[in-house]
Amino acid sequence: MWRVKSLDAILATAEKKSLHRSLGPLQLTLLGIGAVIGTGIFVLTATAAQKAGPGMMVSFIIAGAVCAVAALCYSELASMVPVAGSAYTYSYAVMGELVAWLVGWALILEYALGASAVAVGWSGHMIGLLDSLGMHIPHALTVGPKMSFGNFLEGGEVGGIVNLPAVIITALVTALLIYGTKESATVNAVLVAIKVAALSLFVLVTVPMIAGHASHFTPFTPRGWGNPLGSSGTGVLGAAASIFFAYVGFDAVSTAAEETRNPQRNVPIGLIGSLLICTLFYLLAAGGAIGAFGAQPLVGPDGVPYGDGSPELAAACTAMGAHTPLVCSKEALAYVLNEIGHPFLGSLVALAATIALPSVVLLMMYGQTRIFFVMARDGLLPPVFSTVHPKFKTPWIITLVTGIVVALFAAFLPVGQLADYSNSGTLFAFAAVSLGVMILRFTDKTRVRPFKTPLLFLVAPASIIGCAVLFMSLNGKSKGLFLAWTALGLVFYFLYGFWRSNVRLGVENDEPLTEGPGGVPD
Ligand code: ALA
Repeated sequence: MWRVKSLDAILATAEKKSLHRSLGPLQLTLLGIGAVIGTGIFVLTATAAQKAGPGMMVSFIIAGAVCAVAALCYSELASMVPVAGSAYTYSYAVMGELVAWLVGWALILEYALGASAVAVGWSGHMIGLLDSLGMHIPHALTVGPKMSFGNFLEGGEVGGIVNLPAVIITALVTALLIYGTKESATVNAVLVAIKVAALSLFVLVTVPMIAGHASHFTPFTPRGWGNPLGSSGTGVLGAAASIFFAYVGFDAVSTAAEETRNPQRNVPIGLIGSLLICTLFYLLAAGGAIGAFGAQPLVGPDGVPYGDGSPELAAACTAMGAHTPLVCSKEALAYVLNEIGHPFLGSLVALAATIALPSVVLLMMYGQTRIFFVMARDGLLPPVFSTVHPKFKTPWIITLVTGIVVALFAAFLPVGQLADYSNSGTLFAFAAVSLGVMILRFTDKTRVRPFKTPLLFLVAPASIIGCAVLFMSLNGKSKGLFLAWTALGLVFYFLYGFWRSNVRLGVENDEPLTEGPGGVPD
């Protein structure tokens, strides 16, 4: 189980497709912004407000800083091992099959449940938009039933049945992926422009209102700083652990390293540039929402704030009728504009999110199918998963399975909880990559590193510690789900992958078989 896949074998696969080095720093930065801005800022601002109040501004900075150091580590491996499968593939080469399996297994949480979270975020905007046009979807079809399974899954509302819009968008994206869509650079540029325009509009309207509403910022940390050793997942650190989701996706820049001119210079510019721009936007947007409207947590009759995404919070919000606090909204930014007397601008922001979010669902689901595909190709998952459709040339079976999983979670769970589950997997993968890049500096000193992480032995430990602190700051449900998921993964590995691994059997099967939405061959 410690067997590694040789880097040379992995690179031989990569060499079969030599991509043109055409991307410069600006394109890379745009690529990063396009992959990053999504449900996190448009929706989870409400979740962060319930967890931390105005202190969520500090949460955005903490989460952005952890991503920045993780991003620098990611880039060194991405530039050395520029092939599909990202963190999974890197771990296979550096830390062996068992760690790679655990990372791949954790990435299922990141990508599949991340896609569910974005689908639910999209649903909130679509419902709001239809509402503003006078078309009301029955409430029962916008949210799952009230439920809780042990300590892991909790959410929904009394009277809810299913989040139908979230299921529909997932089905559409699945169909597009099976059909083999390619997201063109032009479409990406247009979507980035739409998202940035919507955020800019929000910031321009709300930030000037901060001046007259200083009182909205006190108390600044109504739920304290949070306790990574506890299970409540609240406070500034708890909100940082959730809002981390808003930054996920920047690894798109690392994976484009092989298509980049002068990657040593341009990859860090693209990564840090897009993270800085997003952090700035997020801070301004959060500050604007607090200043213009207020962002204090909603407190129950017992004086204790409600749990984020809990059926109790949903019930309290419903009981308040119209004009609820920010924490009740499923389309935070659009809602703030509506409530401060700009319903038209609110609808514009909702429209922008409705147009732009499906591409984030698509990227995450695509990432998931690609990871499954590579794991199946390595023999760690059943070979049926790497079946390619005869006509569309896409891994259709695994895409369909991914679509069903994403739709099921999106149908029944609240967005904040889904994002937290997703983050638990992402944080684990980032920490593994940061460790891997240090190990590789010792075990493979001479290999060419198109990009070398500056001050690696400071940056990588900072990344590992940051990821660990954020992971521990997640709520108990998310930590529990991660542990249960990992235990299941271990059982599966020792029953299946351990025996069938191509590396164990000495089988070579690295044929690139598929093309992704970016037109990048697998
Ligand atoms: N960062 C992406 C989002 O917030 C995943 O939707």
